[in-house]
Amino acid sequence: MRRGPLPGALLAVAALLGGCDLSMDRQAKYGTETAASIWPNGMEARPLPDGVVEAGAAVGPESPPSVTPALLARGAERFDIFCEPCHGAGGRGDGAIIGRGFPRPPDYASAQVLGLSGKQLFDVITHGYGVMYPFGSRISPSDRWAIVAYVRALQIADAGSATARPTDLRGRPEGGRPTNGGGS
Ligand code: HEC
Repeated sequence: MRRGPLPGALLAVAALLGGCDLSMDRQAKYGTETAASIWPNGMEARPLPDGVVEAGAAVGPESPPSVTPALLARGAERFDIFCEPCHGAGGRGDGAIIGRGFPRPPDYASAQVLGLSGKQLFDVITHGYGVMYPFGSRISPSDRWAIVAYVRALQIADAGSATARPTDLRGRPEGGRPTNGGGS
């Protein structure tokens, strides 16, 4: 009879010890903000997907990248997504939204917009202008430069004359070719 309760007590102790298994605490895992080998270069967090804007990264590089066909193609694609509904495919300020009561944007070939430098265009996209809302949190800095390049290409293509070119590009060779007669 004395040995009766013993197996029951052992069973209870074993059950309690079972609850003290520390293996969940000791397993390999990443601590908060430690470098993780699963991301490139042991980064601390998942790298941003292409085209995503990091919070607080509204201000981009000061100088524009050189204009390449790839940059223009990217700019055209982004322009069609973000700007065309208001500014129209040719930048004439005749996008579809105008018919819905939104204030009409200026023509890119107007003296006002032709007078803007590339950096000023970049800043308009980043911070907005008047009733046009800002895009700094929606379009990455490199994509903003791509759009700037495309807007300027629209301006240059528009009238095809030297006077319709952005003010600070007048008299400069375009694509390696001299402007007709140079000068103004
Ligand atoms: C929701 C409509 C809308 C969208 C989208 C929009 N714009 Fe505008 N934009 C306007 C309006 C309206 C104005 C004129 C604002 C004013 O005068 O108050 C304007 C003005 C401008 C100007 C002239 C600024 C100046 O100094 O005169 C530029 C350049 C411009 N937009 C570029 C862009 C680009 C590039 C995009 C795309 C990234 C874009 N806009 C997207 C409506 C829009």
